Amino acid sequence: MNRIDLEGRKAIITGGARGIGYATAERMIASGAFVELWDIDAAAIDEAVKSLGDQATGNVVELTDEKVVAVAAGKTFDARPVDILVNNAGITGGNAKTWELAPDIWRRTIEVNLVAPYLTCHALVPLMAKAGYGRIVNVASIAGKEGNPNASHYSASKAGLIALTKSLGKELAGSGILVNCVTPAAARTSIFDQMTQEHIDYMLSKIPLNRFVEPSEVAAMIAWLASNDCSFTTGAVFDISGGRAVY
Ligand SMILES: NC(=O)c1ccc[n+]([C@@H]2O[C@H](COP(=O)([O-])OP(=O)(O)OC[C@H]3O[C@@H](n4cnc5c(N)ncnc54)[C@H](O)[C@@H]3O)[C@@H](O)[C@H]2O)c1
Repeated sequence: MNRIDLEGRKAIITGGARGIGYATAERMIASGAFVELWDIDAAAIDEAVKSLGDQATGNVVELTDEKVVAVAAGKTFDARPVDILVNNAGITGGNAKTWELAPDIWRRTIEVNLVAPYLTCHALVPLMAKAGYGRIVNVASIAGKEGNPNASHYSASKAGLIALTKSLGKELAGSGILVNCVTPAAARTSIFDQMTQEHIDYMLSKIPLNRFVEPSEVAAMIAWLASNDCSFTTGAVFDISGGRAVY
């Protein structure tokens, strides 16, 4: 593993208690950063912080709650200015045809995957802008580019997150804050428990490299996007789909 320079940087990683968020925390700590995990699962945060060590802290945050996010943002920034925000938390909302998905599940998926990243940006961008520096990395999905069948809520939420990235990137151009997103193919994390085996098989069948991406591979791309080395790219979408996407 090469060491990306994140020395002394402070990162908030949402959904960082497990999976891709946890792998990103590991990678960022190995690169010299301090990380704060924002997640709804208190027990998983405790376990993650214990295994990540001194450079990690945790905060139980329900990311769809505007007030909770605002308070957490203020507290986290007061403790140490935040340089990096990784909007990673997400849910699939299960798999079914669009007309079979219950409205509350459709709405919840949009809330967690799209509204929550807006809320974290709403709370943290003004603080980052004052400091004149920031890197925001949104974890979207290949589903947002291609539209997976039996996942219209998930695909639409991730397409929305891609568009949020593009708009915010342009709005913040010149502020010192760069905003980009990644669009991974499937990674074998606990999010697989929220999908049917048929859907998992479908996703694998679409990947020319013929395997799932490892969380550490996604983390490597996120860490670079969160670094100073990423200096002339904003509002952009980074593919990590094993050859599935051709754009
Ligand atoms: N694993 C994949 O196949 C895959 C592929 C493409 C994109 N992604 C995206 O990557 C991101 C991470 O996925 P993962 O596979 O690591 O998932 P995961 O289920 O392993 O982890 C997601 C984390 O988000 C947290 N979370 C969920 N809702 C929350 C809320 N309302 N408030 C706070 N925390 C909340 C969960 O507690 C969990 O710790 C997600 O946005 C997902 O959509 C995953």
